[in-house]
Amino acid sequence: MQFQWYPGHMTKAKRQMQEDIRLIDLVIELVDARIPYSSRNPDIDELGKGKARLILMNKADLADAAACERWERYFQDQGYHVVRLDARNRAGMKRVTEVVMEACREKIERDRRRGIKNRPVRAMVVGIPNVGKSTFINSYAGRACAKTGNKPGVTKGKQWIRLHKNVELLDTPGILWPKFEDQTVGLHLALIGSIRDEIINREELSLELIAALAKICPGALSGRYGTEERPLEEKGEPAEVLGRIAENRHCIKKGGEPDYAKAAELLLEEFRSGKIGRITLEEPGDRTYRGEQTNG
Ligand code: G4P
Repeated sequence: MQFQWYPGHMTKAKRQMQEDIRLIDLVIELVDARIPYSSRNPDIDELGKGKARLILMNKADLADAAACERWERYFQDQGYHVVRLDARNRAGMKRVTEVVMEACREKIERDRRRGIKNRPVRAMVVGIPNVGKSTFINSYAGRACAKTGNKPGVTKGKQWIRLHKNVELLDTPGILWPKFEDQTVGLHLALIGSIRDEIINREELSLELIAALAKICPGALSGRYGTEERPLEEKGEPAEVLGRIAENRHCIKKGGEPDYAKAAELLLEEFRSGKIGRITLEEPGDRTYRGEQTNG
């Protein structure tokens, strides 16, 4: 499977980011907790050099809790502050403010030594498309001041949202570009639904999902699609498994053949919305992650 990203967008996004980052003290980087590796772009480490760093592991409600803990430790070991989050839920925002203050303690103390009082911490939210940047800004700011939905260019001009006396947030999130050179990254982004589905062969994608789940959490598919009368055998080629899911879910064409396309849709949708379970596709120790840049 081949995935694409457009270099024109990338250059523009990078230039904008370089400009905005000069204005801030803290980079609040959102990653998708189900794919913390693939939903990051390590270029942000270079761009955000010298700034305090906070990683929000967003959509943690859809990710495996134990894997979240491992990732949290992994990021912390590299010097990032970390908060796990469901950005739709305002209850988690108090913890974000606490960690923002912790992450900026050095700056606050420096200001105090210089006699500067009450200068708010300036922060900026960054992340690849669809990680939940707008949702987070809305929840954190407590009112609908950023448009949700992935529509670049909705907000124009630079505006700061005063969150309370200590924190100001740039209202426009910085859009990072995914690392498409790595095909596993492209695949994982497609699996969670972060690449426009029209450009992807969904049947093929669902087979990749079946193969991945067989390794990561055997039993998840039979738990969801098997019944007592019709248990689901997960072993065998992914196409056979998809055929069995089609039968068990009555995705059958007129002639009695399994409707693979319909079953693929169903499977992808249910995976993305967490119905198959809270599943994390990536582990910090995976071979793919060895080249990762660190924040230090
Ligand atoms: P972006 O600005 O980074 O591009 O992302 P955005 O906030 O638009 O969020 C993308 C989608 O992810 C939205 O769903 C949003 O509701 C969902 N989302 C954001 N944070 C979380 C989270 O922590 N948990 C879960 N489960 N979902 C989250 P959508 O279907 O595109 O829009 P909508 O139908 O929810 O409005």
